[in-house]
Amino acid sequence: MLKIPAILLEDWFMMTHDDFLKIAKQFHAYTRPFVDRAEDPYPFVLKQEHTARVCRAMEMLCASLGLDGPKTARACAAAMVHDMGRFPQFAVFYTYSDVRSKNHAALGCREIVRSNILSHLSVTDRQLILRAVALHNRPRLSGKLGSDLSLLACLLRDADKIDIFNVMKDHYLNPDSSHGFITYDLHDDGKIPATAAKALLETRQNDLSYVNTLNNMRVFQAGMVYDLNFPAAAAAILDLDVIPVLLGSIPPSDLITRLEQALLDHLKSLAASRV
Ligand SMILES: [Fe+2]
Repeated sequence: MLKIPAILLEDWFMMTHDDFLKIAKQFHAYTRPFVDRAEDPYPFVLKQEHTARVCRAMEMLCASLGLDGPKTARACAAAMVHDMGRFPQFAVFYTYSDVRSKNHAALGCREIVRSNILSHLSVTDRQLILRAVALHNRPRLSGKLGSDLSLLACLLRDADKIDIFNVMKDHYLNPDSSHGFITYDLHDDGKIPATAAKALLETRQNDLSYVNTLNNMRVFQAGMVYDLNFPAAAAAILDLDVIPVLLGSIPPSDLITRLEQALLDHLKSLAASRV
């Protein structure tokens, strides 16, 4: 029987850019009917566009770390499929709030498996991508992930956040009453979200349970900077200059000024650090 050296076998299963392009094509085939069937296609188009930008952010992060072609292709594939659950979520529940509907990461894993979008990949790549998608919206990552999964999950969470900040900045600077779904239709009570802001300053960790008003959500979104992993992600978010936009519409107070400064200091220090 012909014996194939293990190193060659590995090469056969290395993910390529063409594998990624196949996933991109299938992603568009999967999402197009949601856009075509919708009375208002905007929520679905927004997620298609978000996905494309998360893929570009992912490429940038991978380049900043000097990752090789197969690891970059795997990471970009994870970016392409990471929000597939958003499409059935909005089609069924008309919201992107997981609390008021279903966990979109779990829905995404279900759709990834059902659609066979990763079927041409090795078992290892399929499993890593599915697990990274399942982890992309968790409040925090466990320290016990293996090195490949840890890298992929951290990359996906950062690439996703870069574009979440981008979408939020655009939304807050160009408010549109028909786009309230972006902020889960939360009410602006005009109050300083003091409890959430104090907790964030003290713990440097976000707590979703405070998100019951628009200003609490602004604090939560700004607090996502504490969950970033890579200097290039921090640098991209600093370039966006989004923190003042997020916190700028909250009534002025010493507490919010201190929070803004702490978040900017954190971003600057992460951006200047080495991985
Ligand atoms: Fe997501």
